[in-house]
Amino acid sequence: MNDSVTSKQHWKQVYSKQRSDQLGWYKPHLSTSLDLITKCKLNQQARIIDIGGGASTLVDDLLDSGFEQITVMDIAQSALDQVRCRLSKRACLAKWLVGDITTMDLPPNHYDLWHDRAVFHFLTDADSCRRYIECMRQSLKSNGHIIFGTFSLEAPKKCSGLPVCRYDINKLHSTLGQDLILREHKKELHLTPGGVEQMYLYCHFQKPD
Ligand SMILES: C[S@@+](CC[C@H](N)C(=O)[O-])C[C@H]1O[C@@H](n2cnc3c(N)ncnc32)[C@H](O)[C@@H]1O
Repeated sequence: MNDSVTSKQHWKQVYSKQRSDQLGWYKPHLSTSLDLITKCKLNQQARIIDIGGGASTLVDDLLDSGFEQITVMDIAQSALDQVRCRLSKRACLAKWLVGDITTMDLPPNHYDLWHDRAVFHFLTDADSCRRYIECMRQSLKSNGHIIFGTFSLEAPKKCSGLPVCRYDINKLHSTLGQDLILREHKKELHLTPGGVEQMYLYCHFQKPD
């Protein structure tokens, strides 16, 4: 069985076994991501993609803010189904993609903003990281924004029972590419619904012209 199939099965099980508000990464609103997105001062037609959006409410909040071109992608169809169900009639206002971001073909020079909270850190082998980064860099427009939330060095070594790669800002910057312009970074402590502390590193990079 290849890694993509194993990963797909893992995430399918996660979303079938637990309610989304019981999952370790659950936050009622991704307020830190939303603040960083607001600071990008994008217009409402900006193309935004949420990588591994899961069942998060980011898309709900972006629609509430008037964004018109949002894409949510995830390896777990069931996660996206939950969100579509929650959004009801508004679901047709966003695009939905099911797939593995390390093997996905996204349109080149297309997105103004790439958002990833708690997805990239699951890529623990060099090859998957390289494919993810290639996909991100080719599908982002020049001057496009990248907002990441990953486990920081103080965070647990596992998330959702899977090993993760933890980052400080220097390691993340050199992994994603030193040519990216670092606009902002900060750490934030997340408490899981079960009371476990997870320190996140949030950052905003911009692709150069
Ligand atoms: C820890 S959850 C975070 C969900 C959401 N971003 C949030 O902050 O609430 C990780 C998400 O990434 C998805 N995922 C994991 N590996 C993926 C991959 N290779 N490609 C696309 N999605 C993936 C999972 O299905 C899951 O929804």
